Formats: sequence, structure tokens, C-alpha cells
Amino acid sequence: MDKFVIQGGTPLTGSIATSGSKNSALPALAAALLTDEPVVLRRIPRVRDIRTMERLLVDIGSEITVDEEAVTLRTEKIVSPEAPYELVKTMRASSLVLGPLVARAGRARVSMPGGCAIGARPIDFHLSGLRHLGAEIFQEHGYIEAVAPNGLKGANIVFDRITVTGTEDILMAAVLAEGETVITNAAREPEVVDLAEMLTKMGAKIEGAGTSVIRVQGVSKLHGVTHEIIADRIEAGTFVVAGAITGGDLTITDCVADHLGALITKLNQAGMKVTARDATTIEVKSGGTLLPVDMTTEEYPGFATDLQAQYMALMTQADGISIITETIFENRFMHAQELMRMGANIRLDGRRAIVAGRSRLSGAGVIASDLRASASLVLAALVAKGETVIDRVYHIDRGYEKIEAKLAGVGAKILRVE
Ligand code: EPU
Repeated sequence: MDKFVIQGGTPLTGSIATSGSKNSALPALAAALLTDEPVVLRRIPRVRDIRTMERLLVDIGSEITVDEEAVTLRTEKIVSPEAPYELVKTMRASSLVLGPLVARAGRARVSMPGGCAIGARPIDFHLSGLRHLGAEIFQEHGYIEAVAPNGLKGANIVFDRITVTGTEDILMAAVLAEGETVITNAAREPEVVDLAEMLTKMGAKIEGAGTSVIRVQGVSKLHGVTHEIIADRIEAGTFVVAGAITGGDLTITDCVADHLGALITKLNQAGMKVTARDATTIEVKSGGTLLPVDMTTEEYPGFATDLQAQYMALMTQADGISIITETIFENRFMHAQELMRMGANIRLDGRRAIVAGRSRLSGAGVIASDLRASASLVLAALVAKGETVIDRVYHIDRGYEKIEAKLAGVGAKILRVE
């Protein structure tokens, strides 16, 4: 298992580029199942979750070629409409094949996701959505089986709460359902909009993506497409925090500044100078003393839960007390314990973390517990005194492309060791 060895204390300066979005690429790959024609996807990040999804799609029947420029998929036939436990347990987003498989093949068998480091994360909204579209759902031996031998029928679907992959899953099912589907309380995340754009280029009829009501007129067939994935707003946001926490002078390129509005606003309130130089470039400059600013995670366009851990690392360096409230997942504070091992002063109270700064962090051995928690440990290590060794960095490899090379390129002292 790889580890990161990080020497803290160097402000990051220079320019760092953003990769394509993991959470946009995953549904885009699943959407390739909706057609027997070639689908060419550009800017797919080469991270572990993507390789897991590619392996799943190959088992299902896709032919996949990967080169520098693009990932090309062709699924002439669904050979096995199944997502086995071995893959689903390593990546919950495997359930994104549910909607496309039922829509294309009339049948899907997907392992129930088990527990997760950040919360229960059930997929009941995906299932009730498919049921409304006319699928019959059975559960046996740890697997969900969804069948719709005569095809899906458009329906009104109201999500009890906002779900990102649930919205994507149902959207991919609805595009091939007969008649109109209306998804109410839909997720408004940029990844949903990106998927809708891709599906529209494939011939789907979708209105309202990016708002909380999405209308779909079903079509009988979708065709091939060439599509470029949007920039990874969470990766870009992590770099913004890296600039801020090290008191550096960092330019983040190839991102979508608009997708990071909530983070940029918070950091400016905290006294940093974070500005969008243009639509795809963000500049971060230290503004002197970092002020404590409370934060509550919300669905987009609110502050992303996927940036909460990174923000907590930053607030350990603020001059005073801040309260961080996590509303999306019930158990997403695993990083707090590890940050405390590095000297942070954090008290957990249910869904709230009370962070008292400024702590003088010092390097320690810490363990990555999930993808974004690992990112927060990297950020803390960048300002900690001395050496930090982060174990289990496979978590970070799930979603960050060449993070050590990118950070080293702007001055971080970070090494990967086996
Ligand atoms: N929920 C249910 N039932 C469902 C679906 C969701 O109760 O059927 C609950 C969840 O347990 C959670 C809340 O609803 O409490 C929101 O979950 P959501 O479904 O929106 O999460 P997700 O679609 O499983 C995606 C991202 C996550 C990100 C969340 C929230 C992908 C592949 N994953 O997950 O990304 O945290 O939305 O924005 O898009 C990450 O990249 O590190 C990551 C965890």
C-alpha cells in the first residue's frame, strides 16, 4: 500500500491545472450503455474509480479503448446486465448502471451497496424512481434485481430528498422510457447538467437540467456521441484551499470558476484574496490573518460536502472558533480525529464540528479513511511542522489524478512511497 510523505511549511506558488470531473465521468461512462453506437469521452480523469467503472462496463459487454485523448466505448450487446458485489463494494457509484441497463436491456442485477465510511448511503430513491417508471424490483442474496421486460413508462418522480446519482440514474432510465417523465426535487449539480448535455447530444429530449424540475420526453433510441467532461470542481476547490492554507500565491487553471461560488465566497469572508481571473482560472493569494467563518454543507449551489474536510483543515489555521455543520452525510468527520493527531483542536457534536484555531500543526503518522478525508490530511500536512506520513493513499487515488505530481509542481514537498 502506498503512502505519502509530506514535509510541511512551503507556500505553494505557481499554476496548477484541473483534471476532468470524476463525478461527471462516472455517469457519462454508464450512459454509454444506452446506445449500441460508439461513445467518445474526452477529459476522463485517470483515477481508480474510473478504472473500476471501466472494468464493470467491460463485464457488462462494452468494448473500451483508452488513449491520451479519449476513452471510446461501444456496447453492441449487453452481455451480462450485472454489477457484482466485488465491484460495488469498492465503488458505490457502480449503481449508476442500474438505470441505463433497465432502459436498454429491460433487466439489471446490481449488488446492494453495503455500509460506507461516510454514512449509510442507501439507494432506495433510485429504486423507487425505477418502480415509478414501471420496473419491478426484487431483492435477494444481497442483490437488487430490476426488470421491465416491456420497457419503461414515463412517470412523475418526486425525490424525498436531493440525490445526485439518484437523479442521474433516473434521468438515464427516463430518456428511453415511453412518454414524459418529470423529476421533481432533482439535484442541480453541474455533473447532472453535464450528463443531460451528453444525453441531449445522443438524441434525448431533456429540459430543466440544472433546476430542481427536469422534464424528459422519452425517445426510442439514442445514438453515439463525442463529449468532453467538465472540470472537476472538487479537485479545483481542493487546490484553492491548498493555496490558502499554505499562504501561497496559486493560480488554478482549466476549472469552472462559477462552479466554486460557495467556496470562493467563504474564503473571501475568511480574509483570503480569491478571485476568478476569468471563467476558467482562479487566483488565490493570502490576505494575512485567516479569520474563522462558520460553514454548513448543502446541495449545489451551496457549499459542497466533498469540500467539507478540506475546509476543516483550513479552519484549524484560522484565528478563532468556527462551526462546521455537515447536513448531507451523517458520518463524514473521520478526518477530524486524524487532524487532531496532528494537533488540531476540534470538538465533534453530532453533525457539528467546532474547530478552535489557530493550531500549530505538527507532522504525524495518519490514516486516510475516505477520498476527501485524505485530501484534508494532505492539506494539513502541507502546513504542519515536520514530516507527515499518510497511510492508505489508495483512497486519494480513487479521485485525484496525479495529485502528488501536481502539488510538487507548485512547490509542495510530497513523495509517494511504496
Ligand atoms: N440518500 C438516500 N437514499 C438514496 C440516495 C441518497 O437516503 O437513494 C441520501 C444519502 O445517504 C445522503 C444524501 O441522500 O445522505 C445525498 O446523497 P446523494 O445520493 O446525493 O449522494 P451520491 O449520489 O451517492 C454523490 C457523489 C458524492 C457526493 C454526493 C453529495 C458521485 C459519484 N458521488 O454521491 O461524491 O458526496 O453526491 O454531493 O457523484 C466524492 O466524490 O468523494 C463523493 C462522495
